[in-house]
Amino acid sequence: MPKTNNLVEPPYSLLAELTHRCPLHCPYCSNPLEMAQKESELSTADWIRVLSEAADLGVVEVHFSGGEPLLRDDLEILIRHANSLEMYTNLITSGIGLTAEKATSLKDAGLANVQISFQAGEAKLSDIIGGYKAFEKKREAVKAVKEAEMHLSLNVVLHRMNIDKLEGILKLAEETGAERLELANTQYYNWALLNREQLLPCWEQIQRASEIYRKAKARLEKKMEIIWVIPDYYASTPKPCMGGWAAIGLTVAPDGVALPCPTAAMIKDLSFENVRYSSLNSIWNDSSSFNRFRGEEWMPEPCRSCDLRHEDGGGCRCQAFALTGDSFATDPACKWAPEHYLIEKAVQDANNDPKPQNKPLIYRRHQNKTLLKK
Ligand code: SF4
Ligand code: FES
Repeated sequence: MPKTNNLVEPPYSLLAELTHRCPLHCPYCSNPLEMAQKESELSTADWIRVLSEAADLGVVEVHFSGGEPLLRDDLEILIRHANSLEMYTNLITSGIGLTAEKATSLKDAGLANVQISFQAGEAKLSDIIGGYKAFEKKREAVKAVKEAEMHLSLNVVLHRMNIDKLEGILKLAEETGAERLELANTQYYNWALLNREQLLPCWEQIQRASEIYRKAKARLEKKMEIIWVIPDYYASTPKPCMGGWAAIGLTVAPDGVALPCPTAAMIKDLSFENVRYSSLNSIWNDSSSFNRFRGEEWMPEPCRSCDLRHEDGGGCRCQAFALTGDSFATDPACKWAPEHYLIEKAVQDANNDPKPQNKPLIYRRHQNKTLLKK
């Protein structure tokens, strides 16, 4: 039996990234620049074992994600298994491939909730942002989910190119009958960081959008839950990222790498265990990567003596690494961070040039060798 660290609370949720393959090419994708190839993906038997270990560890909620999880032909088998372990199941999908027949078969396997991403509230812009003619297929997927009587949420990542069209996004969400709408302001790691100039909105855009959100939230209170978090480039202190490092959930990447947060693989000075060789129990409780930023011992100043450290845990480790190259650094989103000037500069640039940039977007693609060399 592996040694168990009794001081660590069990995880609540598992993000099962079944594949990095995806028909869309969103320029803000949170997947790594170096994505896992199909040949390196975990097998059905591996995932079944991972799900069983997750349930033993205390996980009660599984999010099947990707890439596009519908590209795995064992999705029903995995959902059925998670269901037999009494875990709540959610599918995070672009909607491509979610036909009426597929929706019924997923429902029969025990799928409870489907979260479909939209890139905008209308076809032309949506298809430009996703780099794929997907909008009408997404609408068909929404219909299929409703007809199969599953719960439906929508997720729209907001940025400079679509934030001024928030009313259209809200209208679309209302028409679909979604119970929940996540308005996720872009997080600038991985692909989004490469495209930050083109994606970071200016302050006026944020203000207008937050007013539209506030009114819609009040108007739709009884009909639809709407989630919106002010982007941390425009907040003075960071948010408690992912509820804290390895605090409430874990991610298993398509190739079996276990991560304390979905984008942690970018932190190159950390090495992560793989579920092929270690149990989830030992990874969660005893691995050095999961324990690295738990608690407050690791914190540098100014976090160490800051009253807000219990609330935000010193901010996001991925953002600290992405911007400073040091995963221990205070999150530069914090106004007291020594490297806060990095955020200020990006915000200044976005506000000096409030018109969309002419620079072309870098779309998410498998193994973009040019980018990996940079
Ligand atoms: Fe959070 Fe550290 Fe900034 Fe305090 S100094 S608000 S703990 S990031
Ligand atoms: Fe990884 Fe914030 S996204 S710690």
